[in-house]
Amino acid sequence: MKIAIYPGSFDPITNGHLDILERAMKLFDKVIITIARNSTKVPMFTETERLEMIRKVVRSYKKVEVDCFDGLLVDYARRKNATAIVRGLRAISDFEYELQMALMNRKLSDGLVTVFLMPNEKYTYLNSSIVREIARLNGDVSRFVPVVVLKALKKKARSAKR
Ligand code: PNS
Repeated sequence: MKIAIYPGSFDPITNGHLDILERAMKLFDKVIITIARNSTKVPMFTETERLEMIRKVVRSYKKVEVDCFDGLLVDYARRKNATAIVRGLRAISDFEYELQMALMNRKLSDGLVTVFLMPNEKYTYLNSSIVREIARLNGDVSRFVPVVVLKALKKKARSAKR
């Protein structure tokens, strides 16, 4: 059974992430989409909120498991018997950071392969932080995120105004 890990902050999950997840599902028997707990970023959504949103969005995906992890990604991948890490690569600007992580993860765990997948071109410019900013400023992000996330972003924007 070929198992892949799709790690990230997913703050929040976007249609770009889903595009990558769907591509990964075609290559692997199981894909574990997992939120890194020890990220240095201060998230807009709590871990529980992010987990709940992802769970709702991928509910119909049979091959997908949703999880969180602490510590090193390579250790988590080993515990899950995964042979690959999936990452999305949108543009050259992603490359340096992704290359550094992929090479470091390979140093830390030789058998673990990082697989880069390119999302549909319409998601080239899309990332979670832009979505958060537009939503915070009451812009329309309905084309960029699943409905569950859209509702959650609107709720956050309302509660921030209070
Ligand atoms: O969505 P992001 O924030 O770009 O994801 C980055 C993530 C979570 C994949 C990366 O920070 C990570 O793997 N964190 C876990 C800790 C770890 O293993 N760090 C060493 C990476 S070389």
